[in-house]
Amino acid sequence: MGWSLRTIVDLSDSEFEQWSKLLEERAGIQLTLGQKSLLQSQLSIRMRELGYEHYSDYYSLVTDGLQGRLEWSILIDRVAVKETSFFRHRQSFEYVRHYLQDKINNRQLNDSFDVWSVGCSTGEEPYSLAMVINDCFELAQLEPYYGITSLDISSTALAKARLGRYLPRAIEQMTTEEARRYCTLCNDGNYEIVRKLRDRICFTHGNILQVSEIPNVPMDVVFCQNLLVYFRRWLRRDILNSLAGRLKPGGLLVVGLGEVMDWEHPEMKRVADDKIQAYIRVEQKQQ
Ligand SMILES: C[S@@+](CC[C@H](N)C(=O)[O-])C[C@H]1O[C@@H](n2cnc3c(N)ncnc32)[C@H](O)[C@@H]1O
Repeated sequence: MGWSLRTIVDLSDSEFEQWSKLLEERAGIQLTLGQKSLLQSQLSIRMRELGYEHYSDYYSLVTDGLQGRLEWSILIDRVAVKETSFFRHRQSFEYVRHYLQDKINNRQLNDSFDVWSVGCSTGEEPYSLAMVINDCFELAQLEPYYGITSLDISSTALAKARLGRYLPRAIEQMTTEEARRYCTLCNDGNYEIVRKLRDRICFTHGNILQVSEIPNVPMDVVFCQNLLVYFRRWLRRDILNSLAGRLKPGGLLVVGLGEVMDWEHPEMKRVADDKIQAYIRVEQKQQ
């Protein structure tokens, strides 16, 4: 079916509820009534592409069998908010630098330094982490022995992340020194992240709601910003509990400032710095 110019009728409140429920059940994303027009426009664009007129028919397609699974991945790409930038919250990245430098200085780095960027979008977050980590290894004149696993539910965001090419506007968030050392100017005027950083990052498609399906590799740092904010409070707590369980002893969990208000975990101690929201995994004392 080709592109159609037929107008698609407004999404009713009950249809909005049905679609919101699906998005929340499958991806955790909670939509407010204020986002109804955004959902409607994304649904109707996709329905026009496929030649569908009724939300109910498109809903049946999305929720039915293998084709439904493929269609769902296209829809979630369009609905998920993928806004990001390099060093989006600079203080959080600087804390990771400080954390790694401390480990290096105290000779506590006996193994690979493993990082997980959860909800990595188009890659700016994991590349920023790679810059900070590479800086630390270079400063200490050590072989850069680290790896960053990056997870997102959006395949198009991941495809862009893997490419590692960005508009000049995006690079403005880096210092001149970071841009000089870690980006190369391409013929088309865009910038490419240098290979030595790209080689350290593995971009994987996945859903944080299905965390048990994601291989459990103990991490030094789990970085999860601007993702939990779209989830209900109880779900944020459940996810944080699982993320805490993925850390090595002494590992660091960094979330967005103010994204979680009332989370406590017997093995996690909040870092005493009110400019960031981070937790260290402490060993539980034997009774
Ligand atoms: C607003 S972006 C934040 C990007 C980056 N972490 C930052 O702080 O700049 C949120 C990302 O989370 C992804 N996402 C949403 N729901 C997800 C889920 N259930 N599992 C994995 N990723 C998800 C979206 O596709 C999007 O790329």
